[in-house]
Amino acid sequence: MDLRERIAQMQEQINEMTAAHADEIEQLRIKYLSKKGEITSLFNEFRNVPNEEKREIGQLLNQLKEEATSRINTLKEQYDEAVSNASKADLTRTPDPIKLGTRHPLSLVKEEIIDIFSRIGFTVAEGPEIEDDWHVFSALNFPPEHPARDMQDTFFIEKHPDILLRTHTSSVQTRVMTSQKPPIRVLCPGRVYRNEAISARAHCFFHQVEGLYIDKNVSFADLRQALMYFAKEMFGPDTKIRLRPSYFPFTEPSAEMDISCNICGGEGCGFCKHTGWVEILGCGMVDPNVLEACGIDSKEYSGYAFGMGVERITNLKYRVKDLRMFSENDVRFLNQFKSC
Ligand code: PHE
Repeated sequence: MDLRERIAQMQEQINEMTAAHADEIEQLRIKYLSKKGEITSLFNEFRNVPNEEKREIGQLLNQLKEEATSRINTLKEQYDEAVSNASKADLTRTPDPIKLGTRHPLSLVKEEIIDIFSRIGFTVAEGPEIEDDWHVFSALNFPPEHPARDMQDTFFIEKHPDILLRTHTSSVQTRVMTSQKPPIRVLCPGRVYRNEAISARAHCFFHQVEGLYIDKNVSFADLRQALMYFAKEMFGPDTKIRLRPSYFPFTEPSAEMDISCNICGGEGCGFCKHTGWVEILGCGMVDPNVLEACGIDSKEYSGYAFGMGVERITNLKYRVKDLRMFSENDVRFLNQFKSC
């Protein structure tokens, strides 16, 4: 190939030169410009060029060398700039915009309940979801023939008639009473399970926050006061409460608490079945049998307990009509709680 063509070919290679690293730039310099480099060897051939072409070829060669040198210098500059920019960058930053998640409405409401009761001295206690009969039923004064002990209502672990999925977080209260001395003031949040067909109004699992207060001279008036404070904090200062007599094996006397319907303000609407009231929790004075079963002297101490379903409170606050929404993970539902 004639020297002119080789110069033109090399010119093309030089125009297309790229390098991602300092090492690669150095390799290019060696390849073209070092003592044994390709451009240098073209210069060595210059002496064989006939005299009449020397001027033209000499110019081409000088131009080639200049361009190769300048291209390599440019690559070096670009590389140095990239390195210094990189050192200015915050390498601890997560790449690209971070998608903000949303908190689950049940978590939001659970946290709010805990927050309200923590302002009057309650702390949180947690316990296992797989429990034994004693912590869920026996210690809590359930008679042996109580329907909750039936497989129709409770999930038992196969081949272990004593082990079950807790049906309420009162089992955590049992654990606290057997391991701590009064005064006791705890909230027991958590998931509970009941053997129910899944529909818009019932599910085989849901969430509770239960509370327990044991001390000397705790009265029903204390319970009522605490619950009224809770209802007003949660649903607004105009909220009214009403306690209706009820029955639970572990409390005596027992009551269910209604609040004035926060959707119609007590006027009567579809949600409150036109009564103006909605039930939100069960409560009562801890039955002395329960205190004794847990090793607490019922002559010295008394206490109150209450328990509420987080789904129900959430329905009331956010007007969620179908319980199944809570466990379907539909982002169109969950995204609505972004700003909460
Ligand atoms: N454990 C009851 C339930 O699951 C609620 C409750 C708790 C009632 C404490 C009274 C006292 O329905």
